[in-house]
Amino acid sequence: MGTGWIVERFVGALRAGTRQDVSALGSRSGDRARDAAQRLGVERAHGSWADLVADPGVDVVYVATGHADHLAGALAAIEAGKPVLVEKPLALDAAQGQRVADAARAAGVFCAEAFWSAYLPRWDVVRQLLDDGVLGRVSAVDADLGEHFDPHHRVFDPAQHGGPLLDLATYPLALATWVLGEVTAASAVGVPHPSGVLGQVGAVLQHTGREGGGPALSAVHTTLLGDTPTTAHVVGDRATLRLPGPFYASGDVVVVPAGGSGARPDPVVRREPETGHAGLFWQAAEVARCVAAGLTETPLRPLAQSLATLRALDAVAAATR
Ligand SMILES: NC(=O)c1ccc[n+]([C@@H]2O[C@H](COP(=O)([O-])OP(=O)(O)OC[C@H]3O[C@@H](n4cnc5c(N)ncnc54)[C@H](OP(=O)(O)O)[C@@H]3O)[C@@H](O)[C@H]2O)c1
Repeated sequence: MGTGWIVERFVGALRAGTRQDVSALGSRSGDRARDAAQRLGVERAHGSWADLVADPGVDVVYVATGHADHLAGALAAIEAGKPVLVEKPLALDAAQGQRVADAARAAGVFCAEAFWSAYLPRWDVVRQLLDDGVLGRVSAVDADLGEHFDPHHRVFDPAQHGGPLLDLATYPLALATWVLGEVTAASAVGVPHPSGVLGQVGAVLQHTGREGGGPALSAVHTTLLGDTPTTAHVVGDRATLRLPGPFYASGDVVVVPAGGSGARPDPVVRREPETGHAGLFWQAAEVARCVAAGLTETPLRPLAQSLATLRALDAVAAATR
């Protein structure tokens, strides 16, 4: 569902990385659906979302519309009884996200956010390190995501909910809430861009913290004004985890043992090539696994985590107003 930038990358990654098939494309415009279907070699084109979700040859719907249409797209798929993977963020805000989660749970239909980082092997390594307590007591996360955009890109359009929050801050805030839990306090500063959206945002958040670890802090920076290192760190009292940029895609995982100014053991590095958006197929593979197993959510990105990310985005947005 959708014909934009991410659809092209997703279709390519899906074909290269899985045996799944893209059987139909849906758009608000019949012409755009046909153009995209022809360009991407997809068999059927639908000029409405209703027709797409009613297509009996469609097993799973991937909602890749603009942010404002995630809610309607997800609800259409759920009402049609089709498992649905919804591009990040799950919806515009936590209230909308809750509607998606409630509808999916009431219908018993599989629903997950296409927050692709959570499905990557690299993030699974992070998951294992955290579960195994390798970092000790975790006190902080810092993460940064800045990207240069063409001035005509939709991120500068207030009508399309542009700005650095929904497109970019989703990533660091998803990491911070996944690792440190729910946001309990937020302070943030936003710098306006002449287009009417925020150009950049810096935020410091307090979280509930990990079980038994007490409150923790995250520091997040996102910008549309230029490329930044896009690195992330998770700080523990036994070791610090380093994710060289881009932290949200495939790449190395570095564990640096704590040592202060004294001698410390060498960092442990798990090397992985950077494959960029080719990694988008992992989320599709996980959806297929879950649907085959009769699951309605994925343990890699449960809806509760998508909602926690949306609450964090809401808190940062409120703090910048
Ligand atoms: N996972 C990732 O790495 C990643 C990266 C980028 C974006 N995303 C997410 O994916 C979603 C879509 O982002 P996107 O970058 O693909 O947005 P986009 O290129 O602007 O496409 C969004 C929608 O706009 C419409 N559209 C496309 N071309 C158009 C045109 N020439 N004129 C008018 N409308 C047009 C299409 O819907 P219709 O055909 O129905 O009109 C399309 O589905 C966002 O929610 C974003 O957060 C994820």
